Amino acid sequence: MKVDGHETEAAGTLLDVILALGIDLPHLCKDDNLPPIGACRTCLVEADGRIVAACHTPAAAVQEVQTRSVRAIELRQAVLRLTARMHGREPDVSGGPRSGELWAAYAAHGLERPSYPSRPRSAVDLSSPFFEFHEEPCILCGRCVVACQQLQHIGAIGIAGTATSARVTAGAAVAFAESACTACGSCVAACPTHALRPKPLRATHRPGDARGEEG
Ligand code: SF4
Ligand code: FES
Repeated sequence: MKVDGHETEAAGTLLDVILALGIDLPHLCKDDNLPPIGACRTCLVEADGRIVAACHTPAAAVQEVQTRSVRAIELRQAVLRLTARMHGREPDVSGGPRSGELWAAYAAHGLERPSYPSRPRSAVDLSSPFFEFHEEPCILCGRCVVACQQLQHIGAIGIAGTATSARVTAGAAVAFAESACTACGSCVAACPTHALRPKPLRATHRPGDARGEEG
């Protein structure tokens, strides 16, 4: 097969092939260690003239891929703008190893941070002694859910609700500290936006933090 004009072996998914070639393609909902979710559509490419999600498309089914065609770039820009609209305007993205991925993809696509207001979401869960959840930057990619279920086989995190009411949660009116969460940190490591983040070292668990708070 060919990717951006380079002959290569068709092994795994298109995303596997593209990343193996060192091509920088956003993949906000695909964790390196977990199966694809197909939720974010930031990995769109042109494959044999069709637009497909690279993380979900077997490479063997494709002969020619364009990651940088005008059509593919414009569609990814549109998806990234919509994704950013879900994200709050919080400037600090220095969290887990993949935090800041959204803004890196934004910059790589020639986009500037949006000035329009984001969707208002402000739930905060400080109950875990090891990590925090801040809903504002969450883009509902689902990586934390898959990491908890498929990497750790715990299932302490889910996405409840639909459309504008959808949110990451440990359960209805259940804080992480009250859930099956073992504070393994897999969700924090998987989160691309710093919504799940390690607790600041100086912070200590306070009794008043035992339940998720709506800000
Ligand atoms: S908390 Fe992070 S990993 Fe989980 S859905 Fe939100 S952005 Fe994705
Ligand atoms: S990485 Fe492909 S849909 Fe999210």
